[in-house]
Amino acid sequence: MKTYLVTGGAGFIGSNFVKYMLEKYDDISIINLDKLTYAGNLENLDSVKDDKNYTFVHGDICDSTLVEKIFADHDIDYVVNFAAESHVDRSIREPEVFVKTNILGTVTLLNAAKNAWADGDSFKSGKKFLQVATDEVYGALGSTGFFTETTPLNPHSPYSASKASADLVVKSYYDTYKMPINITRCSNNYGPYQFPEKLIPLMINNCLNHKKLPIYGDGLNVRDWLYVEDHCKAIDIVINKGVLGEVYNVGGHNERTNIQIIETVIDYINKNVDSSVDRSLMEFVEDRKGHDRRYAIDPAKIKAELGWEPETCFEDGIVLTIEWYVKNKKWMENVTSGAYQNYYNEYYKGI
Ligand code: NAD
Ligand code: DAU
Repeated sequence: MKTYLVTGGAGFIGSNFVKYMLEKYDDISIINLDKLTYAGNLENLDSVKDDKNYTFVHGDICDSTLVEKIFADHDIDYVVNFAAESHVDRSIREPEVFVKTNILGTVTLLNAAKNAWADGDSFKSGKKFLQVATDEVYGALGSTGFFTETTPLNPHSPYSASKASADLVVKSYYDTYKMPINITRCSNNYGPYQFPEKLIPLMINNCLNHKKLPIYGDGLNVRDWLYVEDHCKAIDIVINKGVLGEVYNVGGHNERTNIQIIETVIDYINKNVDSSVDRSLMEFVEDRKGHDRRYAIDPAKIKAELGWEPETCFEDGIVLTIEWYVKNKKWMENVTSGAYQNYYNEYYKGI
């Protein structure tokens, strides 16, 4: 029985990961440590909340006393660190919390794991700390080329700078202590349970509510999109097969301009959901400060060395995603009204 400490497991990717893993494996247990910020939503985990192999801990990854207690109470085998402030626009407005959670929180987890896993000058076998990182640490590309694992880090936003700093600290624990780590750097995720501040769920929600669709700048910035379940599968593979100390890029060669994404969403909804929704909702607005022009991942290493490949193409994934939001209007209403934040109190009373 392997025990996972998943942090940020109530967020978008973390909650998809927790459910994916509990569905796939009978012989693992997962402890989910999450602060339940505006982005953490226990409704995302409704289907596993009574699973005997799942435990929720409400708390902050920066709280060293709590994190050490979790390691003292449980024989943790793997840490999967999703917990982060994740939205670029928020980091431009309020950088401090990004530095705190994304850097200090990661160091707090590293220290607790390092102490708990120490075995003389070495580490107990079978342990691993996986840092869930992002392609944004590489900065921006021009119209050609791809990010490889050896592309120099050159982050531009406070968000990506904090994530790049965390990556370097994680790497330093390998270089200095030989602590067992991996880092995964993934491209833009999309799919169910993504908070509607990010491009795709925001556009779907605005379409369904006949609101304007804000396009930053000229709308020609490019992102490389990956269906969230494919990211979860990549993390599972890196935990089990990743070579210690290595970084793995994760992406599926699905580059789209923002305008292409927005038009795809509008056209699908127009044809299948609400014919009154059309491209007249598109509205060009002021650009994001320091807006990275293009991200594109070269996933050759994870494919060649670990055998991971994405299974859901963009054309299928975007339909699955839009349909999920259409069918889960209540989830979206709860998230956008703030009602979801009462969920913890209602469902976890007395725990
Ligand atoms: P999210 O914002 O949806 O979720 C973040 C989660 O972390 C929330 O549940 C939140 O409550 C929790 N959290 C925040 N601060 C915390 C703290 N101090 N202590 C404990 N929990 C805390 O984020 P996401 O989109 O699911 O991203 C998850 C991770 O994956 C992040 O590290 C992000 O940098 C990385 N990533 C995201 C993408 C993407 O496209 N969304 C792509 C690549 C990498
Ligand atoms: O590349 C991985 C990263 O992808 C993750 O590390 C981040 O956590 C995640 O938030 C995401 O960052 P982006 O900045 O690429 O995602 P976002 O959804 O905020 O924006 C995608 C693109 O859409 C970007 O070029 C800005 C643009 N955009 C975004 C919003 C919210 C708009 O044009 N209008 C909008 O309203």
